[in-house]
Amino acid sequence: MEAQDASGAVRRESIHAAFPITERKGAEEKFRRLLEAAPDAMVIVNGEGRIVMVNAQTKKLYGYRREELLGMTVERLMPERFRQPHLGHRKRFLDKPQVRHLGTGLVLYGLRKDGTEFPVDISLAPLETEEGILVISAIRDITERKQLEMDLRLTQDKLRTLAHALMAEGEETQRRMARGLHDGFPQKLAAIGLRFSTLQKKLPSASRSLNTEVRSISREIQAFEEEIRQFARGLHPAILEHLGLIPALQAECGAFSTAHKIPVRFSHSNIPKKLPAEVSLALYRIVQEGLQNVARHAGSTTSIQVILRCTETGVELTIRDNGSGFDPESAKQRKGLGLISMEERARAVGGNFSITSTLRKGTEIKVQVPLEMSDATTANPAR
Ligand SMILES: Nc1ncnc2c1ncn2[C@@H]1O[C@H](COP(=O)(O)OP(=O)(O)OP(=O)(O)O)[C@@H](O)[C@H]1O
Ligand SMILES: [Mg+2]
Repeated sequence: MEAQDASGAVRRESIHAAFPITERKGAEEKFRRLLEAAPDAMVIVNGEGRIVMVNAQTKKLYGYRREELLGMTVERLMPERFRQPHLGHRKRFLDKPQVRHLGTGLVLYGLRKDGTEFPVDISLAPLETEEGILVISAIRDITERKQLEMDLRLTQDKLRTLAHALMAEGEETQRRMARGLHDGFPQKLAAIGLRFSTLQKKLPSASRSLNTEVRSISREIQAFEEEIRQFARGLHPAILEHLGLIPALQAECGAFSTAHKIPVRFSHSNIPKKLPAEVSLALYRIVQEGLQNVARHAGSTTSIQVILRCTETGVELTIRDNGSGFDPESAKQRKGLGLISMEERARAVGGNFSITSTLRKGTEIKVQVPLEMSDATTANPAR
């Protein structure tokens, strides 16, 4: 490996002073071989920012010959826009030399001889020599990694769009089924029930057992009719469309309390009257899933709070239980869809979703949805 001094003259021993005289030759050779074998481009720069050593990967990555690289200022390996700031970074590094990884949270770029740019990951280490401090940089081309990250992000975005479309489609299908079930079958059953009671009146009073049987069938028809209505209500919350989010949540919390014998305290403050329908539906579904999760997983919960309040920027929903708590990170590894769909529903209306859970203390789910505040007039609270 050749090296070059600050004046640009090529010489072979520029880092020899880094090694004790007795072992210099062997150690230097070992160092050169290590540098040459490194999978990254290795560039060694002196105190003036001139390149004094490079390995084969550097030539390959930047497209320069070794003689061209030696003596060149390191700034020429980066796009114009990074050069001036880099002078300052270089000075600061030399004032306080330590092993560093550059660009955490930043995207850094290298510049090839042909003028093309590529994203890089850079680590720096100081190398003390008798001639002063040299800086070793390990430079890795991360084009492929960046491309993979971008592909992954695109795939995630596509999946998210698909999930939102499926959710919307599912809601629409459920709404249509609910309408059909609610408005069609119960009416037909009611008509059959009516014919039964007419028939009952015409039955001779003597046939008592037949009378009892007909009455029992009538009652079963009525119960069936109510069951279908309830099922339809569960499929799609018509109450949400007709009366709004607050009565719908009141009804949901009340029904849950009765069914699971866990008190649910629902409170709301200053919720604007005209919440967008998709926001109401998202919050309603999140409460439904949140409550189901408490019933199924939270162990000995003795109280649940559902709080809906208006904030400066929008609406905030909190579902809090004092049950078993869980580790949200390990829950993500399981197959459940509830938490994912809650988060997706929040995202679909531009909101965010967070879980705070402590083992044996309970769980708090928070959803914040921004609103156009012109709609969110507190003078017009929702029903
Ligand atoms: N309030 C809670 N208290 C305790 N554990 C909870 C609570 N909510 C969720 N969990 C835990 O998080 C896991 C994931 O919940 P999620 O709703 O995503 O799935 P699931 O309820 O198991 O299945 P699914 O909702 O798809 O029918 C649950 O299996 C449970 O372990
Ligand atoms: Mg669930």
